[in-house]
Amino acid sequence: MALPKSVGTVGGGNMAEAILRGLLRAGMKPDQLIASDPDASRREHLARELEVRVTESNAEVARSSELVVLAVKPTHVEAAAADLPRDAGPLYVSIVAGLRISTLRRLLGSQPRIVRVMPNTPALIGSGISALASDANLAIEDGERATAVLEAVGRVVRVPESLMDAVTGLSGSGPAYVYLFIEALTEAGVREGLSTDVAGELAVETVLGAARLVRESGEQPALLRERVTSPGGTTVAGLSALEQGGLRAAVFEAVRAATARSRELGGES
Ligand SMILES: NC(=O)c1ccc[n+]([C@@H]2O[C@H](COP(=O)([O-])OP(=O)(O)OC[C@H]3O[C@@H](n4cnc5c(N)ncnc54)[C@H](OP(=O)(O)O)[C@@H]3O)[C@@H](O)[C@H]2O)c1
Repeated sequence: MALPKSVGTVGGGNMAEAILRGLLRAGMKPDQLIASDPDASRREHLARELEVRVTESNAEVARSSELVVLAVKPTHVEAAAADLPRDAGPLYVSIVAGLRISTLRRLLGSQPRIVRVMPNTPALIGSGISALASDANLAIEDGERATAVLEAVGRVVRVPESLMDAVTGLSGSGPAYVYLFIEALTEAGVREGLSTDVAGELAVETVLGAARLVRESGEQPALLRERVTSPGGTTVAGLSALEQGGLRAAVFEAVRAATARSRELGGES
């Protein structure tokens, strides 16, 4: 599906910048893109670095864009939505964590078409994974257009909105789990005598290479693990220690706790 002819962001912060950069990489021209932000220094930054159009007015973004990414913090949604037209207008793609489609519809009225997305921080380097949810009545082309925009910063999966908290617990918070694992792997190498630099590089490249092998081979991780685990060898000794240490149970609990917290925060907002 082709990208929209014009895309705007309401909020010109980190995620908005990542998406705008991705869209430029994907071939959109700066004059097809517009961002609003109340902060003049953010607007200047985006105009200087990306050469996109900038404005103080959220209404102008909505007026001049086929698709609008809502990229403000949850606490600013109500103020931002107050400036937006309540008529049919553009297709809205909200990346606001925890904000339900029904809540946004209450703010924007029944007319606008709305897609809810949960991206994650590797989007900043074009390697994100976003989960996309919509009302059942969203037109197929609108879902495809939103997908094309999000694909500018990584991959996209579709989920029912009821599973957005689970997505938050897994891939939203997930990068932090992986950072912790890389930290621990590095420290473990240092304990065994490697320098911090060498241990760090070995750890990062191991995580990156293993993840790419899973993706590019299309094999189940369990199968790849079995293939490198010879009886009585080094890997089986390491894996046994990880299982005894409760790694699997700790990961289950991490995703469960983050999912529950996301549900709680969503209920509060
Ligand atoms: N970062 C992530 O990994 C990630 C992942 C998933 C979802 N999200 C969601 O993405 C959204 C944006 O996150 P972010 O990290 O990009 O935040 P951010 O860097 O704080 O960007 C938000 C921007 O919106 C501006 N803003 C505030 N009120 C506004 C208004 N009424 N109208 C227009 N713009 C307004 C802010 O300006 P001021 O600074 O002047 O207030 C700020 O520049 C959040 O809802 C977050 O939950 C982020």
